[in-house]
Parts: sequence; structure tokens; C-alpha cells
Amino acid sequence: MSTFPDGFLWGAATAAHQVEGGNVNADLWAAEWAPNSHFAEPSGDACDHYHRYPEDIAILADLGLNAYRFGVEWARIEPEEGYFSRAALDHYRRMVGTCLDHGVTPVVTYNHFTAPRWFAAAGGWSGAAAVDRFARYAARVTEHIGDLVPWICTFNEPNVVSMMVHLGLVPAAAREDGLGLSDGAGAPAERPRATGSWPAPSVEVMAAAHRKAVEAIKSGPGDAAVGWTLALIDLQPADGGEDRCAAVRQATELDWLDVSRDDDFVGVQTYTRERIGPAGLLPVPDGVPTTQTGWEVYPRALGHAVRLAAGHAQVPILVTENGMATADDDARVAYTAGALEGLAACLADGVDVRGYLHWTLLDNFEWTSGFAMTFGLIAVDRTTFTRTVKPSARWLGDVARANRLP
Ligand code: NOJ
Repeated sequence: MSTFPDGFLWGAATAAHQVEGGNVNADLWAAEWAPNSHFAEPSGDACDHYHRYPEDIAILADLGLNAYRFGVEWARIEPEEGYFSRAALDHYRRMVGTCLDHGVTPVVTYNHFTAPRWFAAAGGWSGAAAVDRFARYAARVTEHIGDLVPWICTFNEPNVVSMMVHLGLVPAAAREDGLGLSDGAGAPAERPRATGSWPAPSVEVMAAAHRKAVEAIKSGPGDAAVGWTLALIDLQPADGGEDRCAAVRQATELDWLDVSRDDDFVGVQTYTRERIGPAGLLPVPDGVPTTQTGWEVYPRALGHAVRLAAGHAQVPILVTENGMATADDDARVAYTAGALEGLAACLADGVDVRGYLHWTLLDNFEWTSGFAMTFGLIAVDRTTFTRTVKPSARWLGDVARANRLP
């Protein structure tokens, strides 16, 4: 029987653009798409979480979960450079307040792949002022909600484009061609299109933006634990691929974990493993179960990634995402149970893990794949927006209440 420490955070995560709807001022950077690729569909009204968050947070709390990770949307908060929307800031303060009213710990992400269009147009993360622009935004958000928020993630997966490039999933040329994309949110008639030059962010720039934002957040109000979250695939060498795997791990994971050493925690986001041979990424062998996204069903990846992150960054770990895209909810439970067994083993070995936040609360907009990938604990009717709690949500809620695995 695996028990978890008192005060362990049990929750689910979302990202603003993937659930809110109507996020028309946003440009999308990075993530799991090729440059200039087309989106399957626009995010449109997404899950209408912008309006329905009270219901969603109430469901999460009723399930027995005690934490909710969500994003605040820079494109709403600063729709024009230097103009901060009081209405948007007030909205997010209400969201935080709703969590607290339900006894739910809010974990707030300041940047989850989307940024205002003006920021993209001004060069995005390669623009000279990117670091200062992000820090100013972080300072303004903190002024408004910092007194109420105990956990803040500056960036979500700033290493993900680097990961895609090194695994050969995005051509290296993307670095010159740019990745600024729009999904045509709120404008279904508009074709998804590229919106300018936005090179994949480097660890140096993102580390500088992170550090400056941390400084701004630490000046208060509040005393949140601050960190960033990283995409940590469990990278495994196949025969002859040892050197190549080590090089990919260094560039896409260890260099980024180095930045975390000064932080209060690092957010670990792990879904699967990838095996690397001498010529690069190996396909998932025939017959091995995969998810809707084509990823190997490999729950042990989480424990492996947590050990790597804790060993390298030497800071507490918060699992900020883990889950699977599947229509088979029993498979989701089995996967999550397996991942949590790996996490319990980490804790038993003395690894300092503070919580587990499942990806994701609601079936939502999975970037270029649109709404077809169902990662959610809760289904959302695409016409009526009615929420239907899946058995996996109840299962995770029961684990949370018991604070141990069945
Ligand atoms: C990580 C990203 O942070 C999130 O936005 C995405 O939906 C999940 N991975 C699943 O692909």
C-alpha cells in the first residue's frame, strides 16, 4: 500500500488557450506542431471555461482533488503593449478566489505557449525586449493576484521546441523560418496561418526571461513558490544510440534543468518514453499499445523523469502534467495507477515530490490536433458544453481523498 505525504497536492491541470475559448488576441508559439502546419480546427469557444470555471472548479473539488493548475492568458491581460486589462486581471483573481473558496490550492502558469499578437509581431522570443516584456507582465500579474497564489509556474515547457528539433520532429530550419502561428481562435472562417517569424526559443533567452520574471514575482505581494515546467520525455538509448541519446538529453532536458537549480521547485511533465538509436528516434514497435496521439503507453516514464529532474536540479518536484489521450477510460485509470506507483517509489526513496497534477481536467483543444484527442478526466459536449465526469476522475478523486493508492 503506497501512502503519500500529508499535504500532497492532488489535482488536474489546464492551459488558458486550450480551455477558455474566444482567445482572439493570442499567437501560439512552439508546442507539438511543425512550422506553418495547419491546425485541424480553430480553438473557437474551446470549453468555454472562461465563463464556466466556477462549475469546473466546483466539480474538481467535489471529486476530492485539492489543487488546480491553470493558466492566465497574457494576450487577454496585455492585449496591447503596455496596456493591462483590469477586467482580465480581475477575472483571474476571481478564479484564484474560487479555488480558495473550495479549499483548492491554485497553481498558476503565467505563460503556456500563447502570447499576445503584438509580442509575436515584435519578434517574439527573439525580440530584443522579450525578456523585459515578459518580466513586466509577470510583475503586473503578481501585483494583482500574488497575495493569493502559493505556486507559480513562469513558463510551461519552454524546452518543447528544442525537444522537437532534436528528436527530428520539427525541421531544424524552423529556427530560421519561425513558428509564429494562429489557430484562428474565435474566427472559424479564417484559415489557420503562420503569422510571422518566431524562432524556437533558446535556453539562454528563456532562462533570462524566467530569472527576471522570478525576481519580479519574488518582490511580491505574496510568497509563492516559483519554478518553471519542463517537457521531460523519458529518453532511453537503444543499442548503439547511447551517445546520441546522451546528447539529446543534455540539450533538451539537462541544460534546462540546470536553470531550475535556483528555483523553489521544477514542474515535471511526462507522458511517455522515446527510444533513440544511432540514427535518431525509433518508431514505437508494432503491437505495442499507443495513445490517440501515437505515444507509447508507458506509465513508468513518470518515475524515471522525476528521478532525473530531482537528481539533476536538486529542488523539490511538482508533477505539473501527466496523462494520456484515450477514448478508453479504463486505460486512463490503468496508466495513471502505473504512473503513481512510480511516483510512490520515488517518494519511498526520499525524492521530494510535492504533488501530482493530472493532464487534464477537461477534454480540450489539443493544439494542431484539435479536439479529437481526449486527455480529460471530464468530457465536454462540443455543442452544449455540458460536462460529464468520467470514472477516471472519480478514481483519481478517491486516491486523493485516501492519500494513497488502492
Ligand atoms: C504538454 C502541454 O503543456 C499541453 O499543452 C498539452 O496539451 C499536453 N502536453 C498534451 O500534449
